[in-house]
Amino acid sequence: TTYSEEDLYRPNFHFTPKKGWMNDPNGMFYKDGFYHLYFQHYPNGNTWGPMHWGHAISTDMVTWKEMPIAIYPDEKGYIFSGSAVVDINNSSGFSKDGIVPIIAMFTYHDMDAEKAGKTNYQSQAIAYSLDEGQTFIKYSENPVIKNPGIRDFRDPKMVWDSIHEKWLMVLAAGQKIMFYSSQNLKDWKQESDFGTGIGGHGGVWECPDFFPLKVQGTNEVKWVLLVSINPGGPNGGSATQYFVGDFDGKQFKIDPSFKNDLNKKENKSIWIDYGRDNYAGVTWANIPDADGRKLFMGWMSNWEYANAVPTETWRSAMTVARTVELQKVNSSYKLLFKPVKELTNYRGTKLEMESVTINGSTKIIDSKSINLSSAEIYFQIPDLKNSSFTFKLTNIQGDTLAFGYDNSNKNFFLDRSKSGKTEFSEKFANRLSMVKRTSLNPDLFGTIILDKTSIELFFDNGETVMTEIFFPNSPFEKLSIESKDQEFTLGSIEIHKLNI
Ligand code: FRU
Repeated sequence: TTYSEEDLYRPNFHFTPKKGWMNDPNGMFYKDGFYHLYFQHYPNGNTWGPMHWGHAISTDMVTWKEMPIAIYPDEKGYIFSGSAVVDINNSSGFSKDGIVPIIAMFTYHDMDAEKAGKTNYQSQAIAYSLDEGQTFIKYSENPVIKNPGIRDFRDPKMVWDSIHEKWLMVLAAGQKIMFYSSQNLKDWKQESDFGTGIGGHGGVWECPDFFPLKVQGTNEVKWVLLVSINPGGPNGGSATQYFVGDFDGKQFKIDPSFKNDLNKKENKSIWIDYGRDNYAGVTWANIPDADGRKLFMGWMSNWEYANAVPTETWRSAMTVARTVELQKVNSSYKLLFKPVKELTNYRGTKLEMESVTINGSTKIIDSKSINLSSAEIYFQIPDLKNSSFTFKLTNIQGDTLAFGYDNSNKNFFLDRSKSGKTEFSEKFANRLSMVKRTSLNPDLFGTIILDKTSIELFFDNGETVMTEIFFPNSPFEKLSIESKDQEFTLGSIEIHKLNI
């Protein structure tokens, strides 16, 4: 069989632009039944280029409709990453005829200034939409924040702070995060900064996000800061670290117990994902209070090879939308990421097994019963301390994607070194992604989300996540599981075909 690029690699349910290049998710907000997603986009080529904000909408964050480009570059520069908020009370004054304005803030990247050797080529600008986010009118007084002489000064993320009743904005400045506040979304005052001597500093800080979250099962509120960094990730290249702490309206202070946890880690960082392909992710604005969820999406690639992955028509996909929750176990704060429940609305055929003894290699399923390019899998392994296991996805060509848990070093791992096309970049398959298990639960619960070119692994209820992309020569057809040295019991496994 010969496959077209569309057949083989166009994801079934991960957002990807119809054509052209895509990187970071931008400006996500919810309004009147629609989830909006903007994205760094170069529509005229399949590698990074003059940045636009592409646009897509969805009623459930699973099936997306691509809309016309929302923001175009202009004489002030490319439109880099940023955020958007729904200005319900018209604090900006941009409303007309009672229409609620949507305000976007982005970074202008002035290529000419950069080429001329200047360092002040990034500044922050705003634009507003009076047609439900379809088109944006750039503010006449842009930029709203001039460059203070910092080379990397970008990716503003706004949030309404209902505790201190003001707009907040965080942006990345070199290897720090700067905090700003505003009453009208136009005039911004710098309040503080964060990052010196804390966290991972193997690369430039980018695409921050900052929001309060309730600790599960309590009324305690903590503030969470996400910081993407490139390079310097745990498995090479791009990755996103996080910090948990408190915010007094001006300054973010890391929680002492979180700081303690950080100091025990290699690279002094804790990551939202230990796979290689979840970068620059941020959360949605204006999710209704009644819903109460914090919703996240990331770019499913890595700057080490993003421009070279083997698709020509389009490049890159987003992760599935995920909820973000904050958990406190003993004195440790941890973020949990889980796929949104809306995915389960697409469930079709189901296959279930219980108490399977795994000795050597056991076939779980082949694509005749459930298409493994669009599936959601739940598994449970009792008493993990007695088991090392490897799941393998394979096809007739012998391409193999392997992932599992190694009891000898307590690591979860994900190995795409033989998963198909890898030669397009020496960085793509040059290392195995690994992370130590942190959960103290004797039993392991795992969720696996499979699409044609991606796997998203959620271990221990989303406490450890691994997301990676792959490019098999033909679709994976078989899922099997292997024990390493001794047999063990696969408590249960449930496989759902997703009809998307
Ligand atoms: C992150 C990033 C951002 C920047 C954008 C440019 O991937 O480098 O910092 O705004 O991409 O496309």
